[in-house]
Amino acid sequence: MTTLTLLSVEEEDTPSISLNAANTVADINPLIYGGFTEHMGRCIYGGLYEPENPNNLSDTNGFRTDVISCLQELRVPVVRYPGGNFCATYRWQDGIGPRDKRPSRPELAWEGLEPNSFGTDEFMEWCKVVGSEPYLCLNMGTGTLEDAMAWVEYCNGDKDTYYANLRRQNGHEKPYGVKYWALGNEVWGPWQVEQNSKEDYAKKAIQWAKALKLLDPSIKLILCGKDGYSDWDRYTLQECIRWIDMHSIHYYSMGKIHYPNISSVYGAERAIQVCSSLIDLARCEFDLSPFPDTERIITKPKSKTRPTICFDEWNVWDPERAPGNKGGEEHYTLSDGLAVAIWLNIFVRNAKDLGMATIAQSVNVIAPLMTTPRGVWKQTTYFPLLLFSKYMRGRSVAVHTRTGTYKGETWPEWIESTIPIPKLDVSAAVEEGWMSVTVVNSDEEKSLSTAIEGLKDGTSVQVFTVGGERFQAADQNSEGDEKISIKETMWQAKGCYTFERLSFTLLRWKL
Ligand code: AHR
Repeated sequence: MTTLTLLSVEEEDTPSISLNAANTVADINPLIYGGFTEHMGRCIYGGLYEPENPNNLSDTNGFRTDVISCLQELRVPVVRYPGGNFCATYRWQDGIGPRDKRPSRPELAWEGLEPNSFGTDEFMEWCKVVGSEPYLCLNMGTGTLEDAMAWVEYCNGDKDTYYANLRRQNGHEKPYGVKYWALGNEVWGPWQVEQNSKEDYAKKAIQWAKALKLLDPSIKLILCGKDGYSDWDRYTLQECIRWIDMHSIHYYSMGKIHYPNISSVYGAERAIQVCSSLIDLARCEFDLSPFPDTERIITKPKSKTRPTICFDEWNVWDPERAPGNKGGEEHYTLSDGLAVAIWLNIFVRNAKDLGMATIAQSVNVIAPLMTTPRGVWKQTTYFPLLLFSKYMRGRSVAVHTRTGTYKGETWPEWIESTIPIPKLDVSAAVEEGWMSVTVVNSDEEKSLSTAIEGLKDGTSVQVFTVGGERFQAADQNSEGDEKISIKETMWQAKGCYTFERLSFTLLRWKL
């Protein structure tokens, strides 16, 4: 059995990365490069949809073509919609049919007003143009099971039934075949309209799942989890495991200064590992044991298939820096770009557990991509995403890294005593005879000359670098100034490779 391992070494030791293309760990599900568009701030209106753009940047549907090009470049395979917290009061019926008849409604999650000029049919068309699959999140706040069933029927119905006919009447003859449906969003949160206890939610989720799968057995249902390591996750998985295909978790990393910002991401790695164990535990059927000290014994799995984790909200987000009700427009630093690269390394390293991951969010709101009426500009976080989505596909490879670790303040505090925070963070993938290795050197001071065991001297290596010597952790891009982007070079492998301080590097060679 191959594992992904890390050895913490003294600062003066030469770091090393050891890998072997034959030691693969799991398939990398391409859905980990998914996106998320919520009716929040300028994500939909002014982000992906802007019919009145003064510079003709929108097509006849009102879709921003520059945004579409970037998302196509990122090869975003799946997009979650319409929220997020927005879901909890969303009436999907308001967003279909003739635009002049669609009602405006108060929007409670982000204290706005929802004009409903962009709704289900527009989203489906937009996904088609981008080349992504839709993933819809059901309203388990004010919404009823009847509303949810009606939405599934509207999207997927192929018979002569009311909602399928309503879709046809709105000009969409063929069913959309929406496969992924989430059973609510963060229903545990005190900020939700209709916050639930875990017991109430689990009961309701089972009833909804039963009905929705009766209506359309082809759909995949995603349970509303929390952060992956909570009692909510344990309980809801335990109760609902038979009914679901994936378990959703959310985690935002953040830190006011560089190292805590970096260390915070490792909470996500722990979350995946703990959640994976909760899934295994929930699958076990227990029998009462005849022996007094061993209450229960495990017999057989409760669910035939093993649900995976759907990390459907992840990113760097400091809500003090970018409050949600003010549009959540983060202005990302190089440190954040490196954090996002570590996030993606974590997804590749833990590929066996991930069925999907959707970055929150795709445009303007805590996003890698920002729009102005004049065009789009790319944040520091865009470039690692692009490199991963382009090259980190296929199979995840076991990596052993020897590296110095960061010792100091971490956020959240518990990370420090749980996971060592490596200076070099690594993942690797093989696809179609190519080895790709992604390395973050988060050290603020030192470039790290590193031995790469498994790479022969003389091999031609493609090198892509984001950040590096010329930059500071706090550096940012802005409109007209994308100083942090991808630098591409070649390296004829010989001895150690030096990973520049504060950099993300992707090395790629033919096997
Ligand atoms: O992505 C922004 C918000 O963060 C989402 O609406 C919510 O689900 C989470 O709390």
